[in-house]
Amino acid sequence: MTQRLIMAEISSPALTNADGGMLWDFWYPALRSHQVRGRDLRRAMLLDVPLVIGRDARGKPFALRDVCPHRGMPLSCGQSDGETVECSYHGWRFDARTGQCREIPSITADSKLRVDRIYAGSFPCEERDGYIWAYMTAPNSPRLEHAPIPAPELPKFSERYSTAHLSAEMPVHVDHGVIGLMDPAHGPFVHQSWWWRKRRSIHEKHKQFEPIPSGFRMSAHTPSSNSLPYKVLKMITGAPVTTTIDFTLPSYRFEQVRAGNLWFSSRAVVTPVRRDLCRLDFCAAWNVLRYVPIVGFIVEVLGPRFIAQDTDTMTKQSVGLKSNPHLMLIDDADRPAKWYFQLKAAHLESQRTGTPAPHPMDGPVTLHWRS
Ligand code: FES
Ligand SMILES: [Fe+2]
Repeated sequence: MTQRLIMAEISSPALTNADGGMLWDFWYPALRSHQVRGRDLRRAMLLDVPLVIGRDARGKPFALRDVCPHRGMPLSCGQSDGETVECSYHGWRFDARTGQCREIPSITADSKLRVDRIYAGSFPCEERDGYIWAYMTAPNSPRLEHAPIPAPELPKFSERYSTAHLSAEMPVHVDHGVIGLMDPAHGPFVHQSWWWRKRRSIHEKHKQFEPIPSGFRMSAHTPSSNSLPYKVLKMITGAPVTTTIDFTLPSYRFEQVRAGNLWFSSRAVVTPVRRDLCRLDFCAAWNVLRYVPIVGFIVEVLGPRFIAQDTDTMTKQSVGLKSNPHLMLIDDADRPAKWYFQLKAAHLESQRTGTPAPHPMDGPVTLHWRS
């Protein structure tokens, strides 16, 4: 029971930063794998940076800044031969992986111009779980050919499984996308439906959270029995169902539901596209009833409806946010949102000073709310 009426006013500080309050030096999904085939050059945008994504001769993806360093032509207007990308304006060619300039057709043999000193911006790029990911190094930081960490991978717990992907745009800053995703209190109001829950099912909950590196975990618990998908899982396995939810910077949410040797694993990334637009990139894998399409139905049919309830809400919220209102985070329902802002601030400070980021949580804590 929480009688502590601690209220914190925050004024969404991230929105006013010069860099748009987005976190650099992390992996973000730029495109789905199937969107880039053969010699295609496709546009994407992450953290307000225009990208051109293609594949090299071996099919490995690459990501360059979609701006020719000569006169700013989008490189996506040019063409790729699998090794280099040629700008459509004056035909300069750039190494697809490093961005290094390989050829300037207009220079003569006696030119002193050091072509190899010219670079188009490039970003480490990997393919994982059906997405092409780019590691977004901060502007003006040294060029990186390889990221210091691999792109995040969706955990899977058996050899055979089914998968699904969903995505939805939200016209709000990534911070609002993230705290909207972790906010437990909107459920009974936004997600009312016969298959998820009813507004009158609101009741008091206690959930334990613990610190993990760069994030926090909602410790393994038996999920809310008032939602249909969990009832189905319990019914078909007969085993106790447990779920664990991890949030880590920059904006990753991993959820694992286990019941006996059956599992369902999902990852949601709130991807910052521009400072006023983010995208939810959700993917899931499961081995529950792989041959009966019930889980597929829940994820692919009910999932988009569920996500649409969130995106519709955020679209409406974005109207109110235009006037840059002061915002409030209350205990305990908004405590995860507070941790997010604290983790983010600690991370930015540690990037600035080169010292380790302190964790906002001292240890496990139980939060109480009604939802
Ligand atoms: S603008 Fe790209 S080659 Fe001139
Ligand atoms: Fe929601």
